[in-house]
Amino acid sequence: MKKILVSNKVYYVGVNDRKKSLFENNWPLPNGVSYNSYVIADEKCALIDTLEFGSKDDYLEEIGEILQGRQLDYLIVNHMEPDHSSMIGWIQKMYPNVKIVANSKAFKMLQSYYGIGQDHIHEVKDGDTLDLGYHKLNFVMTPWVHWPETMITYDTTDSILFSCDAFGSFGTLDGGIFDDEINFGFYEDEMRRYYSNIVGKYSHMVQKAFAKLESFKINFICPSHGPVWRKDPQKAISLYDKWSKHESDEGVVIAFASMYGNTEKMADYLARLISEQGVKNIRIYDVSKTHVSFILNDIWKYKSVVLGSSAYNAGMHPMMQHLCNELEVLNPKDKNYALFGSFSWSGGGVKTLVPFSEKMSWKMVAPPVEIMGSPKIEEMSGFEEIAKNII
Ligand SMILES: Cc1cc2nc3c(=O)[nH]c(=O)nc-3n(C[C@H](O)[C@H](O)[C@H](O)COP(=O)(O)O)c2cc1C
Ligand SMILES: [Fe+2]
Ligand SMILES: [Fe+2]
Repeated sequence: MKKILVSNKVYYVGVNDRKKSLFENNWPLPNGVSYNSYVIADEKCALIDTLEFGSKDDYLEEIGEILQGRQLDYLIVNHMEPDHSSMIGWIQKMYPNVKIVANSKAFKMLQSYYGIGQDHIHEVKDGDTLDLGYHKLNFVMTPWVHWPETMITYDTTDSILFSCDAFGSFGTLDGGIFDDEINFGFYEDEMRRYYSNIVGKYSHMVQKAFAKLESFKINFICPSHGPVWRKDPQKAISLYDKWSKHESDEGVVIAFASMYGNTEKMADYLARLISEQGVKNIRIYDVSKTHVSFILNDIWKYKSVVLGSSAYNAGMHPMMQHLCNELEVLNPKDKNYALFGSFSWSGGGVKTLVPFSEKMSWKMVAPPVEIMGSPKIEEMSGFEEIAKNII
């Protein structure tokens, strides 16, 4: 692999994973994902995070080529999720004297996953520094962005933020590694999908991390997934700030579950009414067809959400239940919303969507519309109020 220099003595040694179909065995990867790792070849040499085990055959050789026979002094573990940590054992085998730089919350995990004892660990606390020669590193504890032990490593010399999952994105790096080498339009969507699916639940902790980093000068952001930012890191920061504050764009996501098309007809009817109000961003999703990952991404993006379900065994349809479960866990806030559905006897769809929606910090814009059997236009007048108020 061609050596990729990020900054003075800092090399990118990441890999593209195009084989894995589901990240965390849950989130689809139609465009793959990259695991990014970085070598700082200074007076002292450090590796920042590793890769998912098995994702790169020649990872150790590549590190060896950069170090040119020198020892690896430090392995900095920002985050213990195995997509970044599962090569730690191999690094240790190759460099038995390497010191693992980690915070105390990572200790037990290092022990339980990889059998690494305290004598191999160089403990760091919030604000601690590590002098590599030219580069001087500073450790910032950022718990819950994405796990409790997560931290960020900041290089004060070249103003580089090694941010791990923060500012990460789905999508492989197809030639272009840096923000000025790629068409960001594609990555913005994959970055928000990564945010909403993986990090969004911890948005308040992202805001806390931002408060800590406020006074830091940032010339580079080197995340552990997706593009490296060197031209416009402020863009990544402002997107993350927006998403973690639950700020959204004007638009409506209508997600429906329908077995025989009745609830779907209601969705189409409502969408037309909303369009007549001049709204341009309207996305209709069949929850049985589109993976919840993509629906969540658009719900994070847009201000308004309408959920519709046919009644199913006295509840909502199981695929709508899946979306609602994920919404409850990931907790996108500040939405306008409305509900609808079709039924045949005593209902269940709207009946169970209502208590779900009351648990969310959302604002209902009009009463739910519920129709028995096939919807007739005269039965759908309730949608007019929804269409008027949903934006
Ligand atoms: C497996 C199954 C379970 C159902 N359970 C209920 C129910 O608990 N309450 C109810 O009122 N209707 C129930 N229905 C009827 C449907 O909700 C009704 O046919 C509805 O119009 C279907 O809307 P759809 O065409 O959007 O799927 C059930 C239908 C099926 C196939
Ligand atoms: Fe993670
Ligand atoms: Fe990750």
